[in-house]
Amino acid sequence: MVVRGAVMEVRRAIAPSIQESDDRVPTGVPSLDKIIEGGLRRGDCIIVAGQPGTGKTTLGLQFLYHGATRCGENGVYASVIESSEKLKRNGLRFGWDLNRLESENKLRLVSLQSTMKAGVSTALETVLEALHSMNAKRLVFDSLSALMTAFESNAEARSFLHIMVKFLEAANCTTMMISEVPWGKQQLGTNFEEFLGDGLVILDASFDNSRVRRRVYIPKMRGTEHRLEGYDYYITRDGFSLAPTPIPPDKIR
Ligand SMILES: Nc1ncnc2c1ncn2[C@@H]1O[C@H](COP(=O)(O)OP(=O)(O)O)[C@@H](O)[C@H]1O
Ligand SMILES: [Mg+2]
Repeated sequence: MVVRGAVMEVRRAIAPSIQESDDRVPTGVPSLDKIIEGGLRRGDCIIVAGQPGTGKTTLGLQFLYHGATRCGENGVYASVIESSEKLKRNGLRFGWDLNRLESENKLRLVSLQSTMKAGVSTALETVLEALHSMNAKRLVFDSLSALMTAFESNAEARSFLHIMVKFLEAANCTTMMISEVPWGKQQLGTNFEEFLGDGLVILDASFDNSRVRRRVYIPKMRGTEHRLEGYDYYITRDGFSLAPTPIPPDKIR
């Protein structure tokens, strides 16, 4: 299998350089980094879960934009859902010129809409190839939920995802895996989030006093001392940001 072969090859080539230290990758959201010891651990794969419209794509793009413009880290945004044109147009509203980053070969937007029809392994190979050719250090995969529908069985999905996560870790590529949570449901979108991620960030939108209130929760972030309280968060023309202090306990329902 090509994917498995690629993993072995990458592992052999870079095994000695796998980061053992507590090397942190800033997310591009300083208020988030502040509560997770400075950022994500390099090579980790975290799940960003939330209902539609909660800002998962925005957070993902901000993570890649920051990496490419401030950290010298190339990135790939693989989308099963949105076209590259839509991502670019939405990015511009935050002042992120994704077109320019693509032409500078610092970012690649990979649309998997048509590739998925050729099969899930073709789609994943496209992503791995893009990562490899750009020496990308950041990946956003949008979304795990859409990918899951393409597998024939849970066992197949599990083994594919396992290989992919190992590949990313070996390549020191820090990943945000987006997961869609349907409206009105408490549980996450798929059964894989629990075992897959090194961390879990939940973006929640609920009705509060006749308006939508956005809150972020971090139930899991391996190797990191983190707060368990929720934080209000905002999406403005500057992108994604968290309130400086957690929601006081008496207000948590
Ligand atoms: N330029 C902007 N200024 C303020 N808020 C915005 C802007 N663009 C998008 N938003 C907010 O972000 C939401 C969409 O975020 P998005 O990242 O696409 O969510 P998701 O990927 O979780 O569906 C919109 O519903 C809107 O509330
Ligand atoms: Mg989205």
